Amino acid sequence: MTGPGSEPKLNVLVFAASLRSDSLNRQLADVAARVARQAGATVDHASMRDFDVPSYDGDIEKAEGVPKGADELRRRLTACDAFIISSPEYNASMPGVLKNLIDWTSRFRPQPFDTKQCLLMSASPSMAGGNRGLWALRMPLEHLGARVYPDMFSLAQAHRALADGDIADAALRERFGKNLQAFLSLAEAAKHYACMKRAWVEFLGEPPGTAADRVDAVTS
Ligand code: FNR
Repeated sequence: MTGPGSEPKLNVLVFAASLRSDSLNRQLADVAARVARQAGATVDHASMRDFDVPSYDGDIEKAEGVPKGADELRRRLTACDAFIISSPEYNASMPGVLKNLIDWTSRFRPQPFDTKQCLLMSASPSMAGGNRGLWALRMPLEHLGARVYPDMFSLAQAHRALADGDIADAALRERFGKNLQAFLSLAEAAKHYACMKRAWVEFLGEPPGTAADRVDAVTS
């Protein structure tokens, strides 16, 4: 992917969308960060605590602007080529703290998520591994212009499947590594050979007008 003296390394932001100290998703994010580093990427390994924000409130936004935690995510998204989120599933959807953070961060222009390559993963004690939550999470991210990788990784029975800082089962570990490597290869290709350029429009198809227009023009 990258070698000494060649192109700059791929910058990948990785974080888990759980605040819990024993988080299974944090453990999975740790594995992803390590594998991405081994594959040659530069990893910005963040914590959900870096992005602490109050509940979205339009009055706060008007009076004080977008809070620091969301600005921190904006800054780190802007600096990366690709990002990876390992997210818990809560009630068949994404955690409220993550959606709230996405909502705040989406208020910046240029749109911070736009054109960023994204890989989603989840870990859960359940048999479905939190996969339903990732389908819900795809929606706002794709709406905001992120290029969400088709193959999402969900670790079932994660309380047993993770051991000694890794995925215990060798076959599953290999599948995880191959999926992550395939994502990084795509992100690398997209970085150097961007083939899809478009303006980001929040409400694509609505009649253009100053009242509703939320548009980022294509810059290059
Ligand atoms: C859960 N959990 C859960 N798990 C799942 O697979 N599907 C679900 O719909 C839910 N719903 C749910 C709701 C709420 C409010 C909580 C607190 C938990 C269980 C969840 O996957 C488990 O607690 C994980 O360990 C949470 O992720 P972290 O914190 O370990 O990363």
